[in-house]
Amino acid sequence: MDKPYRIGMLGKQGAGKGTQCIRLSEVLGIPHISTGDMLRAALREGTDFGKAAGEFMERGELVPDSIIVGVVAERLAQSDALNDGFVLDGFPRTLAQAQMLEDTLAPVGLKVVINLDVSTEVVLDRLSSRRVCVGCGRTYSIHSRPNRNWSCDSCGEEVIQRSDDTKEAIARRLALYDELTAPLIDWYGQLGKLISVFGDGDFDLIHKEIRSAIDSVIG
Ligand code: AP5
Ligand code: MG
Repeated sequence: MDKPYRIGMLGKQGAGKGTQCIRLSEVLGIPHISTGDMLRAALREGTDFGKAAGEFMERGELVPDSIIVGVVAERLAQSDALNDGFVLDGFPRTLAQAQMLEDTLAPVGLKVVINLDVSTEVVLDRLSSRRVCVGCGRTYSIHSRPNRNWSCDSCGEEVIQRSDDTKEAIARRLALYDELTAPLIDWYGQLGKLISVFGDGDFDLIHKEIRSAIDSVIG
């Protein structure tokens, strides 16, 4: 059976992938699969996978494909993703990951890939002011705080600054984006799966544009 929603989300660090994916997941009733959130959870739980990934993340390096690819394949094989589809946040980030994903989801692969297009100047400002819930990953910023102190409005857990939102790690992450992830824009474009959405502006308007883009493909 062909699954209705298999959505990918590309975009620079701080483009708003997590923010928009959480909303999409709520309104479409599909799992939000974020490799960054999975890695941070594994790190907190002290699993072997988390320990192996932690030092790469702290420095703003990509976790090696050999570590991440199997974990994503396992997650995509769970029943919610198989039955309902998913929105994939932060994966793929390299051509090897993109190829693995198309192979795993063959014969159709991802149905649509949204490229959230935001300038480097804007993402630098967003990353330095971002705060994140350690429980559910919901994002806030110093300009848009939770209702009660720094406790998450969704799950009540603590809202903190991410340890890789330092100046050095941000610079490294953005450089790796240009080198390894940006080529995926052309790659998915050539497959006829890419739709770019301008990601600087009102959150609700961006969400509406993403919904229209998805509806234009999936209906
Ligand atoms: P990950 O957690 O995916 O981090 P990232 O790629 O650096 O992306 P971000 O989460 O920083 O940005 P975002 O686009 O989600 O922005 P957000 O919605 O938070 O990955 C972390 C690390 O894990 C990687 O560096 C790597 O080490 C490893 N990793 C993960 N996946 C991997 C993979 N596939 N392969 C190898 N390694 C991997 O928004 C940012 C801020 O802006 C927030 O404060 C938000 O409130 C605000 N904001 C959002 N939208 C708006 C708007 N419209 N207007 C104003 N503010 C806004
Ligand atoms: Mg994110």
